[in-house]
Amino acid sequence: MTDVGKSLHEQSIADPRSFWQQAARLISWDTEPNCILDESKPPFYRWFVDGKMNTCFNAVDRHVHAGRGEQVAINYISPVTQNQYTITYNELLAQVSRLAGYMLSKGIQKGDRVVIYMPMIPETAFAMLACARIGAIHSVVFGGFAANELATRINDAKPKLVLSASCGIEPSGVVPYKPLLDEALEQATHQVEHCLILGRPQYQATLHSPRDADWQFSLKDAANADCLPLNATDPLYVLYTSGTTGQPKGVVRDNGGHAVALCWSMKNIYDVGEGEVFWAASDVGWVVGHSYIVYGPLLVGATTIMYEGKPIGTPDAGAFWRIIQQQSVKSFFTAPTAIRAIKREDPEGALLKSFDLSCLKQMFLAGERCDPDTLNWSQSMLGKPVIDHWWQTETGWPVAANLMGVDPIEVKPGSPARAVPGYQVEVLDAMGEKVGANESGNVVIKQPLPPGTLTTLWQNDQRYVDSYLSMYPGYYLTGDAGYLDEDGYLYIMSRIDDIINVAGHRLSTGRFEEVLCQHSAVAEAAVIGVQDKLKGQVPLGMVVLKNGVNLSDDELHNQLLSLVRQEIGPVASFRLVSAVPKLPKTRSGKILRATMRKIADNQEFTVPATIEDPQTLDIVRNTLTRMGYADSLAKQISD
Ligand code: COA
Ligand code: AMP
Repeated sequence: MTDVGKSLHEQSIADPRSFWQQAARLISWDTEPNCILDESKPPFYRWFVDGKMNTCFNAVDRHVHAGRGEQVAINYISPVTQNQYTITYNELLAQVSRLAGYMLSKGIQKGDRVVIYMPMIPETAFAMLACARIGAIHSVVFGGFAANELATRINDAKPKLVLSASCGIEPSGVVPYKPLLDEALEQATHQVEHCLILGRPQYQATLHSPRDADWQFSLKDAANADCLPLNATDPLYVLYTSGTTGQPKGVVRDNGGHAVALCWSMKNIYDVGEGEVFWAASDVGWVVGHSYIVYGPLLVGATTIMYEGKPIGTPDAGAFWRIIQQQSVKSFFTAPTAIRAIKREDPEGALLKSFDLSCLKQMFLAGERCDPDTLNWSQSMLGKPVIDHWWQTETGWPVAANLMGVDPIEVKPGSPARAVPGYQVEVLDAMGEKVGANESGNVVIKQPLPPGTLTTLWQNDQRYVDSYLSMYPGYYLTGDAGYLDEDGYLYIMSRIDDIINVAGHRLSTGRFEEVLCQHSAVAEAAVIGVQDKLKGQVPLGMVVLKNGVNLSDDELHNQLLSLVRQEIGPVASFRLVSAVPKLPKTRSGKILRATMRKIADNQEFTVPATIEDPQTLDIVRNTLTRMGYADSLAKQISD
């Protein structure tokens, strides 16, 4: 039997130009590209360099021109506000053109940055598309981040305009966004000229004249704006993601490659096209939201769902399945954490089985490692393929996946299947040599990366090269460790850096440590990610106090928790911290975080030969045991 996926992959690697030239026909161009791949400035590669197009035109206008204006583009479902309505492509075009017209009237031009700090409501998608329409570069900041994180991103992106809403709504209550925005703008060194604020009935924001304007009022008289033809290589957006330091990385995505790659992935990976319903239950603040709530489904003329709710509690663990049935969702995408939360509340699948899910062809999981238990449970409950797939903010679309729209292959639990066409994935050892099948190493992708992947970091080519391209020249370092089996299936096992994944949210332990060290009592801090049954990983901190500090354990604990919440935001889920007399370090002063992590997770560990004081590991072990992590079984093995 021919392995269609494998031969597609081989074609894409052997002749990337003709593979992507053909894929480029999935979108409408103002000027079709002749130069498919520009390799003249390695390690920087550019796709479709002489092509001109507009992402918003492809995601909105062209469906209206094709006579499908009355089809639903966005289905907004908000259990937290008890609200639900649909937006057709005609309506979407009207909303987006008007918002784009407003932006033009405020002097926003091609290349200007616009920060979007908004909840899961249709206006957030309007905002992104309106920027795309006029060539402004959007930068969406996730609502669960604190003012300080927003300020950091504002300082880096230097937007002229911020679009925000008065509040977000979480099951725990209303989260006022506008005061957070005000605080961020006060902290930021960059001055923002205009803020457009969408008032929601749940919270009335104070507007500060002349900077702030009311969304509804301001748009009443705005003129409609047309799509501006852009170079394929013009940036569409900057999305900040956690790096190993506290300074987030501004991943830059261009227009042409992104639109082509997303269209290709919608059809070939997610098996969704025109008129079909696709639902990614994530948040627009993350890359999943950018690619598969907003751009991907709209680019192929599908219906997307914007869900302002949670997998459980809004109202129950049947929420996902109820919506899939009601909206005839064909392909569904969520994070393993969400499934673990559902499984905890509905272990026998009683709720799940009460719905008719015959519309659903498959469910996709990503954002964190998918443990085989979660995959097996959901697959047996749903009786449909459950597809783990692997990618990152940087790549923008899946690197390894089962091609459900082409030729599904066997699912191996624990593996996101094989490399997707366009990606040449290899596993290298520390010396840069390819390792054998089933041997672990650093997972890398041979350059050039396919269209749609990051082109650089915002205004920081050097950091892009240093972070991703310098360890193995000619290869992009993913930051993940894992192995390939004899059938070419990839297994992603862990990160090689200090990034942790909390409920599918990517966070930097370095940033937690910076924040803990801001506390006047703290001399030093180490934060590691420890395993968590629900969230996959959660952060755990150990701090060494300054001499003479007089704080009770409870006081210290509470103060550190609120400091992290204040500085990083609720998304940090920071609940575990303890004081220790000393941290384990090498003689050169490097904190032994990897060893601490192994002790916490009851894995075998060796005492590094370079350790400064072996007793510090006993301190760590005892502290972790007290915190409910390492038990006495944590094994120490000899070298
Ligand atoms: N705006 C403001 N606050 C937000 C927010 C937003 N957009 N998103 C989350 N928060 C807050 C939550 O209210 C919570 O605050 P709290 O500590 O005051 O309760 C905190 O951030 C952590 O939220 P969350 O990560 O959602 O955890 P949870 O304990 O409330 O819920 C799950 C647990 C498993 C239900 C939830 O994490 C979930 O739905 N996970 C799926 C993740 C996902 O889709 N990831 C995207 C990658 S594909
Ligand atoms: P983000 O950039 O937030 O999407 O996070 C990307 C990181 O999440 C990856 O580098 C992995 O460490 C992890 N990740 C995402 N999807 C998977 C998956 N399917 N399996 C294992 N790890 C994953």
